Amino acid sequence: MDNGPFFKLDDVSVSYGPIEALRGVTVEVHEGEVVCLLGANGAGKSTTLMTISGILKPQAGRKYFEGADITSLRPDKIVARGIVQVPEGRRIFPRMSVAENLEMGTYARRGAETKRRLGRVFELFPVLAERRTQRGGTLSGGEQQMLAIARGLMAGPRLLLLDEPSLGLAPQYVEAIFDTLRRINAEGITIFLVEQNAAMALEVASRGYVMETGSVVLADTSENLRRDDGVRKAYLGEE
Ligand SMILES: Nc1ncnc2c1ncn2[C@@H]1O[C@H](COP(=O)(O)OP(=O)(O)OP(=O)(O)O)[C@@H](O)[C@H]1O
Ligand SMILES: [Mg+2]
Repeated sequence: MDNGPFFKLDDVSVSYGPIEALRGVTVEVHEGEVVCLLGANGAGKSTTLMTISGILKPQAGRKYFEGADITSLRPDKIVARGIVQVPEGRRIFPRMSVAENLEMGTYARRGAETKRRLGRVFELFPVLAERRTQRGGTLSGGEQQMLAIARGLMAGPRLLLLDEPSLGLAPQYVEAIFDTLRRINAEGITIFLVEQNAAMALEVASRGYVMETGSVVLADTSENLRRDDGVRKAYLGEE
């Protein structure tokens, strides 16, 4: 896999007990890309991300990162390698301050590097700097999403996994979140993005996958996906 993709899920199947949630899923992400994963409710998008981050174990198939087989690595080891997930629904700590939430993202790392990262996320999200002593639970939905992304950045990701970052947000926050993803990517962080907002996702991503009931049914450039009749009907709300 010397010149292989940065990240690859290779023919992965995942079950929840008797329920087969992923069937032979193959996904590749190259270094520097933004790649999106589209699909309806229950298609298996979150399951795919949780499998990448090691929370779920595949029953079959392999997982590679930078040429290494990481199929059996524990979630903390996967984070240590630079694969960091921003979970669906934000999952911030509501009683902790903004600053404490951000510190939770750094795990074992302390000191100068943490300080540098904190400075960086406050630059990226000035509103979090202003509210660093405010409790996470009192932030607006959009601010909480920013906090969740910022917490992910505190772990020093090289591949950032995002699960529906725009879900439930007002339009101006959706724009702000996608702008931020562009900036993060421009700084060299590779992004794998799950979204139901297909229009926005295909705008920021260069390639995408479409998943239906646990299988990848389409894999193409964003440009081609935007022109695809099935995608237009099912995910872009066009006739
Ligand atoms: N903990 C679980 N136990 C049993 N089945 C589950 C569990 N989590 C998910 N599933 C099932 O696995 C399938 C894929 O779920 P998943 O959460 O990955 O979908 P999704 O594409 O992220 O959907 P959504 O857009 O609603 O977030 C669904 O049929 C779901 O019901
Ligand atoms: Mg989901």
